[in-house]
Amino acid sequence: MATDLSVTFTGLRFENPFLLASAPPTESESNITRAFDAGWGGVVTKTIGLHPVTNVAGPKTRFLRATPESSQLSMRKRPGTALHSSWNWELISDKTLDWWVPRLGRIKRAYPSRVLVTSIMAGSGSDSELKHWQTLALACQDEGADALELNLSCPHMDRPDMGSNIGKDPELVSVVTQAVKDVARVPVWAKLTPSTTDIVVEARGAFLGGADAVSSTNTFPSLPLIDPETLEFEMNVDGLVSSGGLGGPAILPQSIAKMSQLTQAFPDRAFSGIGGIGEFGHALNYFLLGCGTVQVCTAAMLDHAIGPNVVKQLVAGMRETMERHGWSSLDEFRGLRRDRVVVHSKIRRPEGEAYRGGYDAEGYAGAESSTEPTAVTKG
Ligand SMILES: Cc1cc2nc3c(=O)[nH]c(=O)nc-3n(C[C@H](O)[C@H](O)[C@H](O)COP(=O)(O)O)c2cc1C
Repeated sequence: MATDLSVTFTGLRFENPFLLASAPPTESESNITRAFDAGWGGVVTKTIGLHPVTNVAGPKTRFLRATPESSQLSMRKRPGTALHSSWNWELISDKTLDWWVPRLGRIKRAYPSRVLVTSIMAGSGSDSELKHWQTLALACQDEGADALELNLSCPHMDRPDMGSNIGKDPELVSVVTQAVKDVARVPVWAKLTPSTTDIVVEARGAFLGGADAVSSTNTFPSLPLIDPETLEFEMNVDGLVSSGGLGGPAILPQSIAKMSQLTQAFPDRAFSGIGGIGEFGHALNYFLLGCGTVQVCTAAMLDHAIGPNVVKQLVAGMRETMERHGWSSLDEFRGLRRDRVVVHSKIRRPEGEAYRGGYDAEGYAGAESSTEPTAVTKG
Protein backbone atom coordinates (compact mmCIF):
# COMPACT_ATOMS: atom_id res chain seq x y z
CA MET A 1 0.00 0.00 0.00
CA ALA A 2 1.32 3.48 -0.87
CA THR A 3 2.45 5.64 2.03
CA ASP A 4 0.12 8.54 2.63
CA LEU A 5 1.59 11.48 4.52
CA SER A 6 -1.68 13.38 4.67
CA VAL A 7 -3.46 13.81 7.99
CA THR A 8 -6.79 15.09 9.19
CA PHE A 9 -6.36 17.27 12.26
CA THR A 10 -9.25 19.16 13.91
CA GLY A 11 -11.27 18.36 10.81
CA LEU A 12 -8.74 19.94 8.43
CA ARG A 13 -6.83 17.99 5.80
CA PHE A 14 -3.06 18.57 5.69
CA GLU A 15 -0.90 17.25 2.81
CA ASN A 16 1.66 16.45 5.49
CA PRO A 17 1.65 17.01 9.28
CA PHE A 18 4.51 19.56 9.24
CA LEU A 19 3.77 23.22 9.98
CA LEU A 20 5.85 26.32 10.43
CA ALA A 21 5.19 27.66 13.94
CA SER A 22 4.12 31.22 14.65
CA ALA A 23 7.40 33.18 14.50
CA PRO A 24 9.67 35.05 12.02
CA PRO A 25 9.36 32.31 9.34
CA THR A 26 5.67 33.23 9.01
CA GLU A 27 5.89 37.00 9.55
CA SER A 28 5.17 38.02 5.93
CA GLU A 29 3.25 37.05 2.81
CA SER A 30 6.45 36.30 0.89
CA ASN A 31 7.76 34.00 3.63
CA ILE A 32 4.46 32.12 3.82
CA THR A 33 4.18 31.62 0.05
CA ARG A 34 7.82 30.46 -0.06
CA ALA A 35 7.03 28.05 2.78
CA PHE A 36 4.12 26.54 0.87
CA ASP A 37 6.27 26.26 -2.26
CA ALA A 38 8.92 24.49 -0.18
CA GLY A 39 6.38 21.84 0.90
CA TRP A 40 5.14 22.74 4.40
CA GLY A 41 1.67 21.24 4.97
CA GLY A 42 0.56 24.34 6.85
CA VAL A 43 1.71 27.51 8.57
CA VAL A 44 0.73 29.34 11.72
CA THR A 45 1.17 33.06 11.09
CA LYS A 46 3.24 35.27 13.35
CA THR A 47 0.84 36.35 16.12
CA ILE A 48 -1.49 39.20 15.12
CA GLY A 49 -2.82 41.64 17.74
CA LEU A 50 -4.62 44.96 18.01
CA HIS A 51 -2.33 46.72 20.50
CA PRO A 52 0.69 48.71 19.25
CA VAL A 53 3.96 46.75 19.28
CA THR A 54 7.48 48.19 19.47
CA ASN A 55 10.33 45.71 19.72
CA VAL A 56 13.59 46.28 21.65
CA ALA A 57 16.46 48.15 20.03
CA GLY A 58 18.88 45.65 18.49
CA PRO A 59 18.58 41.96 17.70
CA LYS A 60 15.43 40.15 18.78
CA THR A 61 16.79 36.60 18.40
CA ARG A 62 20.22 35.01 18.73
CA PHE A 63 21.51 31.46 18.80
CA LEU A 64 23.46 29.80 21.59
CA ARG A 65 26.09 27.36 20.33
CA ALA A 66 28.12 24.64 22.01
CA THR A 67 31.74 23.83 21.24
CA PRO A 68 31.98 20.03 20.89
CA GLU A 69 34.39 18.27 23.29
CA SER A 70 34.23 21.25 25.66
CA SER A 71 31.69 22.77 27.98
CA GLN A 72 31.70 26.13 26.24
CA LEU A 73 28.31 27.67 25.46
CA SER A 74 28.15 31.05 23.80
CA MET A 75 26.26 33.16 21.29
CA ARG A 76 29.57 34.32 19.83
CA LYS A 77 30.03 33.25 16.21
CA ARG A 78 32.92 30.79 15.97
CA PRO A 79 33.78 27.82 13.75
CA GLY A 80 32.95 24.19 14.49
CA THR A 81 30.03 24.68 16.86
CA ALA A 82 26.75 22.85 17.32
CA LEU A 83 23.40 24.57 17.86
CA HIS A 84 22.22 24.46 21.47
CA SER A 85 19.18 26.77 21.40
CA SER A 86 17.60 29.98 20.20
CA TRP A 87 16.96 32.83 22.60
CA ASN A 88 14.49 35.58 21.73
CA TRP A 89 12.66 38.49 23.22
CA GLU A 90 10.67 39.30 20.12
CA LEU A 91 7.11 40.51 20.62
CA ILE A 92 4.17 39.58 18.41
CA SER A 93 3.86 40.94 14.84
CA ASP A 94 4.50 44.66 14.69
CA LYS A 95 2.26 44.81 11.60
CA THR A 96 -1.36 45.85 12.14
CA LEU A 97 -4.46 43.74 11.50
CA ASP A 98 -5.21 46.01 8.50
CA TRP A 99 -1.81 45.09 7.07
CA TRP A 100 -2.45 41.38 7.55
CA VAL A 101 -6.05 41.16 6.28
CA PRO A 102 -5.52 41.55 2.50
CA ARG A 103 -2.43 39.38 2.67
CA LEU A 104 -4.26 36.51 4.39
CA GLY A 105 -6.89 36.59 1.66
CA ARG A 106 -4.30 36.59 -1.12
CA ILE A 107 -2.33 33.72 0.44
CA LYS A 108 -5.43 31.59 0.87
CA ARG A 109 -6.64 32.24 -2.69
CA ALA A 110 -3.20 31.33 -4.08
CA TYR A 111 -2.84 28.14 -1.96
CA PRO A 112 -6.37 26.83 -1.34
CA SER A 113 -5.21 23.32 -0.45
CA ARG A 114 -2.61 24.41 2.13
CA VAL A 115 -3.63 25.08 5.71
CA LEU A 116 -3.38 28.67 6.90
CA VAL A 117 -3.70 29.01 10.67
CA THR A 118 -3.71 32.54 12.07
CA SER A 119 -2.24 33.14 15.49
CA ILE A 120 -4.01 35.89 17.43
CA MET A 121 -3.52 37.62 20.77
CA ALA A 122 -5.34 40.20 22.91
CA GLY A 123 -5.73 40.91 26.61
CA SER A 124 -8.18 39.47 29.09
CA GLY A 125 -8.61 42.19 31.69
CA SER A 126 -11.98 43.54 30.50
CA ASP A 127 -14.95 42.84 28.24
CA SER A 128 -13.49 45.13 25.60
CA GLU A 129 -10.27 43.08 25.61
CA LEU A 130 -12.28 39.89 25.14
CA LYS A 131 -14.04 41.62 22.22
CA HIS A 132 -10.58 42.21 20.70
CA TRP A 133 -10.10 38.44 20.51
CA GLN A 134 -13.41 38.22 18.65
CA THR A 135 -12.52 41.08 16.28
CA LEU A 136 -9.25 39.35 15.41
CA ALA A 137 -10.92 35.96 15.00
CA LEU A 138 -13.67 37.30 12.73
CA ALA A 139 -11.27 39.31 10.55
CA CYS A 140 -8.96 36.31 10.03
CA GLN A 141 -11.65 33.73 9.32
CA ASP A 142 -13.44 36.13 6.94
CA GLU A 143 -10.22 36.20 4.89
CA GLY A 144 -10.17 32.42 4.69
CA ALA A 145 -8.05 31.37 7.69
CA ASP A 146 -8.57 27.63 8.15
CA ALA A 147 -8.05 27.71 11.92
CA LEU A 148 -7.18 30.11 14.74
CA GLU A 149 -4.35 29.55 17.21
CA LEU A 150 -4.71 31.52 20.45
CA ASN A 151 -1.38 32.80 21.73
CA LEU A 152 -1.81 32.22 25.48
CA SER A 153 1.89 31.65 25.90
CA CYS A 154 4.20 34.53 24.89
CA PRO A 155 6.77 34.47 27.71
CA HIS A 156 7.85 38.13 27.56
CA MET A 157 4.81 40.21 28.45
CA ASP A 158 4.74 42.88 31.12
CA ARG A 159 0.95 43.10 30.92
CA PRO A 160 -0.56 40.82 33.58
CA ASP A 161 -3.59 40.04 31.37
CA MET A 162 -1.73 38.86 28.26
CA GLY A 163 0.40 36.10 26.77
CA SER A 164 1.70 33.49 29.19
CA ASN A 165 0.03 35.40 32.01
CA ILE A 166 -3.26 34.16 30.55
CA GLY A 167 -1.75 30.72 29.95
CA LYS A 168 -0.81 30.40 33.62
CA ASP A 169 -4.41 30.88 34.76
CA PRO A 170 -6.76 28.00 33.81
CA GLU A 171 -9.88 30.14 34.30
CA LEU A 172 -8.60 32.88 32.00
CA VAL A 173 -7.59 30.23 29.45
CA SER A 174 -11.18 29.00 29.53
CA VAL A 175 -12.75 32.45 29.33
CA VAL A 176 -10.63 33.56 26.37
CA THR A 177 -11.11 30.28 24.50
CA GLN A 178 -14.87 30.46 25.04
CA ALA A 179 -14.97 34.08 23.82
CA VAL A 180 -13.28 33.07 20.57
CA LYS A 181 -15.37 29.91 20.20
CA ASP A 182 -18.52 32.07 20.47
CA VAL A 183 -17.70 33.65 17.09
CA ALA A 184 -15.44 31.06 15.42
CA ARG A 185 -16.63 29.05 12.43
CA VAL A 186 -13.21 27.38 12.14
CA PRO A 187 -11.28 25.17 14.60
CA VAL A 188 -9.63 26.91 17.55
CA TRP A 189 -6.23 25.76 18.86
CA ALA A 190 -4.96 26.99 22.23
CA LYS A 191 -1.16 27.43 22.43
CA LEU A 192 -0.09 26.94 26.03
CA THR A 193 2.98 27.98 27.98
CA PRO A 194 5.32 25.31 29.40
CA SER A 195 5.98 27.62 32.34
CA THR A 196 3.48 26.18 34.84
CA THR A 197 3.54 23.38 37.40
CA ASP A 198 1.07 21.09 35.64
CA ILE A 199 0.18 21.90 32.04
CA VAL A 200 -2.73 19.44 32.24
CA VAL A 201 -4.58 21.97 34.42
CA GLU A 202 -4.38 24.74 31.81
CA ALA A 203 -5.19 22.31 28.99
CA ARG A 204 -8.33 21.29 30.85
CA GLY A 205 -9.26 24.99 31.00
CA ALA A 206 -8.77 25.24 27.23
CA PHE A 207 -10.90 22.19 26.49
CA LEU A 208 -13.63 23.38 28.90
CA GLY A 209 -13.66 26.63 26.91
CA GLY A 210 -14.22 24.58 23.76
CA ALA A 211 -10.69 24.36 22.26
CA ASP A 212 -10.44 21.92 19.35
CA ALA A 213 -6.73 21.34 19.98
CA VAL A 214 -3.85 22.34 22.21
CA SER A 215 -0.47 23.40 20.80
CA SER A 216 2.56 22.95 23.07
CA THR A 217 5.08 24.30 23.76
CA ASN A 218 5.99 27.93 23.34
CA THR A 219 9.54 28.88 24.37
CA PHE A 220 10.79 28.41 27.95
CA PRO A 221 11.44 31.56 30.05
CA SER A 222 15.19 32.13 30.32
CA LEU A 223 18.06 34.64 30.24
CA PRO A 224 21.03 34.90 27.89
CA LEU A 225 24.35 33.95 29.52
CA ILE A 226 26.87 36.44 30.93
CA ASP A 227 30.11 36.68 28.97
CA PRO A 228 32.93 35.87 31.44
CA GLU A 229 35.28 38.35 29.69
CA THR A 230 33.06 41.41 29.44
CA LEU A 231 30.75 40.55 32.35
CA GLU A 232 27.86 41.65 30.11
CA PHE A 233 24.87 39.53 29.15
CA GLU A 234 25.55 38.19 25.66
CA MET A 235 22.37 39.90 24.54
CA ASN A 236 21.45 43.20 26.13
CA VAL A 237 20.34 46.74 25.39
CA ASP A 238 22.34 49.38 27.26
CA GLY A 239 23.55 46.61 29.59
CA LEU A 240 20.00 45.59 30.50
CA VAL A 241 18.23 42.32 29.83
CA SER A 242 14.80 40.86 30.50
CA SER A 243 13.36 37.36 30.55
CA GLY A 244 13.02 35.88 27.05
CA GLY A 245 12.26 32.52 25.47
CA LEU A 246 14.47 29.49 24.86
CA GLY A 247 13.74 27.33 21.80
CA GLY A 248 15.56 24.81 19.61
CA PRO A 249 17.37 21.52 20.43
CA ALA A 250 17.77 22.32 24.16
CA ILE A 251 14.02 22.25 24.76
CA LEU A 252 13.13 19.04 22.88
CA PRO A 253 13.28 16.74 25.95
CA GLN A 254 11.39 19.24 28.09
CA SER A 255 8.72 19.87 25.46
CA ILE A 256 8.08 16.17 24.89
CA ALA A 257 7.74 15.74 28.67
CA LYS A 258 4.96 18.36 28.64
CA MET A 259 3.38 16.66 25.62
CA SER A 260 3.48 13.28 27.34
CA GLN A 261 1.54 14.70 30.28
CA LEU A 262 -1.02 16.20 27.90
CA THR A 263 -1.63 13.17 25.70
CA GLN A 264 -1.89 10.85 28.68
CA ALA A 265 -4.43 13.08 30.40
CA PHE A 266 -6.47 13.60 27.21
CA PRO A 267 -5.86 10.59 24.94
CA ASP A 268 -8.81 11.43 22.69
CA ARG A 269 -7.95 15.09 22.11
CA ALA A 270 -5.93 16.74 19.33
CA PHE A 271 -2.41 18.03 19.99
CA SER A 272 0.10 19.93 17.85
CA GLY A 273 3.64 19.29 19.12
CA ILE A 274 6.23 22.10 19.17
CA GLY A 275 9.73 22.44 20.57
CA GLY A 276 13.19 21.52 19.32
CA ILE A 277 12.21 19.79 16.08
CA GLY A 278 14.96 19.84 13.45
CA GLU A 279 14.53 16.47 11.75
CA PHE A 280 11.99 13.65 11.46
CA GLY A 281 13.45 11.67 14.37
CA HIS A 282 12.50 14.58 16.64
CA ALA A 283 9.00 14.89 15.16
CA LEU A 284 8.52 11.15 15.59
CA ASN A 285 8.72 11.61 19.38
CA TYR A 286 5.66 13.84 19.27
CA PHE A 287 3.76 11.49 16.94
CA LEU A 288 4.54 8.41 19.06
CA LEU A 289 3.25 10.30 22.10
CA GLY A 290 -0.02 11.07 20.32
CA CYS A 291 0.31 14.34 18.36
CA GLY A 292 -1.53 14.77 15.07
CA THR A 293 0.66 17.59 13.71
CA VAL A 294 3.98 19.23 14.66
CA GLN A 295 5.36 22.74 14.28
CA VAL A 296 8.90 24.04 13.70
CA CYS A 297 10.50 27.42 14.38
CA THR A 298 14.22 27.59 15.31
CA ALA A 299 15.45 25.01 12.78
CA ALA A 300 13.53 26.80 10.00
CA MET A 301 14.92 30.21 10.98
CA LEU A 302 18.43 28.86 10.44
CA ASP A 303 17.59 27.29 7.06
CA HIS A 304 16.95 30.10 4.56
CA ALA A 305 14.44 31.69 6.97
CA ILE A 306 11.60 29.27 6.15
CA GLY A 307 13.22 25.82 6.29
CA PRO A 308 13.18 24.41 2.73
CA ASN A 309 15.75 21.74 3.62
CA VAL A 310 14.15 21.05 6.99
CA VAL A 311 10.76 20.28 5.46
CA LYS A 312 12.35 18.19 2.73
CA GLN A 313 14.07 16.08 5.40
CA LEU A 314 10.88 15.83 7.50
CA VAL A 315 8.85 14.58 4.54
CA ALA A 316 11.55 12.17 3.33
CA GLY A 317 12.16 10.93 6.89
CA MET A 318 8.48 10.27 7.47
CA ARG A 319 8.10 8.44 4.17
CA GLU A 320 11.20 6.31 4.79
CA THR A 321 10.17 5.49 8.37
CA MET A 322 6.64 4.53 7.33
CA GLU A 323 7.92 2.30 4.54
CA ARG A 324 10.42 0.62 6.89
CA HIS A 325 7.72 -0.19 9.46
CA GLY A 326 4.99 -0.96 6.92
CA TRP A 327 2.75 1.87 8.14
CA SER A 328 0.38 3.38 5.60
CA SER A 329 -0.73 6.45 7.56
CA LEU A 330 0.12 8.47 10.66
CA ASP A 331 -2.88 6.97 12.44
CA GLU A 332 -1.06 3.63 12.48
CA PHE A 333 1.74 4.91 14.71
CA ARG A 334 0.24 7.95 16.46
CA GLY A 335 0.35 7.37 20.23
CA LEU A 336 2.21 4.03 20.02
CA ARG A 337 4.54 5.03 22.88
CA ARG A 338 2.11 7.15 24.92
CA ASP A 339 1.67 4.52 27.62
CA ARG A 340 5.38 3.82 28.04
CA VAL A 341 5.72 6.86 30.29
CA VAL A 342 4.81 5.71 33.81
CA VAL A 343 5.21 6.81 37.44
CA HIS A 344 8.70 6.23 38.81
CA SER A 345 7.67 3.40 41.13
CA LYS A 346 6.55 1.34 38.10
CA ILE A 347 10.10 1.19 36.73
CA ARG A 348 11.64 -2.23 37.47
CA ARG A 349 14.37 -2.41 40.12
CA PRO A 350 17.13 -5.03 40.25
CA GLU A 351 16.14 -7.81 42.62
CA GLY A 352 17.82 -9.06 45.80
CA GLU A 353 21.61 -9.52 45.66
CA ALA A 354 21.83 -7.74 42.30
CA TYR A 355 21.18 -4.40 43.97
CA ARG A 356 24.14 -2.95 45.83
CA GLY A 357 22.90 0.62 46.08
CA GLY A 358 25.72 3.11 46.02
CA TYR A 359 28.27 0.63 47.46
CA ASP A 360 29.89 -0.67 44.31
CA ALA A 361 30.82 2.54 42.56
CA GLU A 362 31.86 6.07 43.27
CA GLY A 363 29.50 7.62 40.80
CA TYR A 364 30.74 8.62 37.36
CA ALA A 365 34.04 9.87 38.75
CA GLY A 366 35.46 6.45 39.66
CA ALA A 367 39.26 6.16 39.23
CA GLU A 368 38.95 3.36 36.65
CA SER A 369 36.88 5.54 34.33
CA SER A 370 39.10 8.62 34.35
CA THR A 371 38.72 9.09 30.60
CA GLU A 372 34.94 9.45 31.00
CA PRO A 373 33.43 12.87 31.63
CA THR A 374 33.07 13.51 35.36
CA ALA A 375 29.79 14.49 36.97
CA VAL A 376 28.42 14.96 40.43
CA THR A 377 25.95 12.19 41.13
CA LYS A 378 23.65 13.58 43.75
CA GLY A 379 19.87 13.65 43.61
C1 LIG B 1 12.04 34.78 17.33
C2 LIG B 1 10.84 34.03 17.78
C3 LIG B 1 9.57 34.63 17.72
C4 LIG B 1 8.44 33.94 18.12
N1 LIG B 1 7.22 34.53 18.03
C5 LIG B 1 6.09 33.86 18.39
C6 LIG B 1 4.81 34.44 18.21
O1 LIG B 1 4.65 35.56 17.71
N2 LIG B 1 3.73 33.70 18.59
C7 LIG B 1 3.84 32.45 19.11
O2 LIG B 1 2.83 31.82 19.45
N3 LIG B 1 5.07 31.86 19.28
C8 LIG B 1 6.17 32.54 18.92
N4 LIG B 1 7.41 31.94 19.04
C9 LIG B 1 7.50 30.57 19.60
C10 LIG B 1 7.57 29.50 18.48
O3 LIG B 1 6.38 29.50 17.72
C11 LIG B 1 7.79 28.10 19.08
O4 LIG B 1 6.70 27.81 19.94
C12 LIG B 1 9.09 27.98 19.87
O5 LIG B 1 10.14 28.67 19.25
C13 LIG B 1 9.51 26.51 20.09
O6 LIG B 1 9.77 25.87 18.85
P1 LIG B 1 11.29 25.61 18.31
O7 LIG B 1 12.00 24.86 19.37
O8 LIG B 1 11.09 24.88 17.01
O9 LIG B 1 11.89 26.98 18.10
C14 LIG B 1 8.56 32.62 18.63
C15 LIG B 1 9.83 32.00 18.67
C16 LIG B 1 10.95 32.68 18.25
C17 LIG B 1 12.30 32.00 18.32
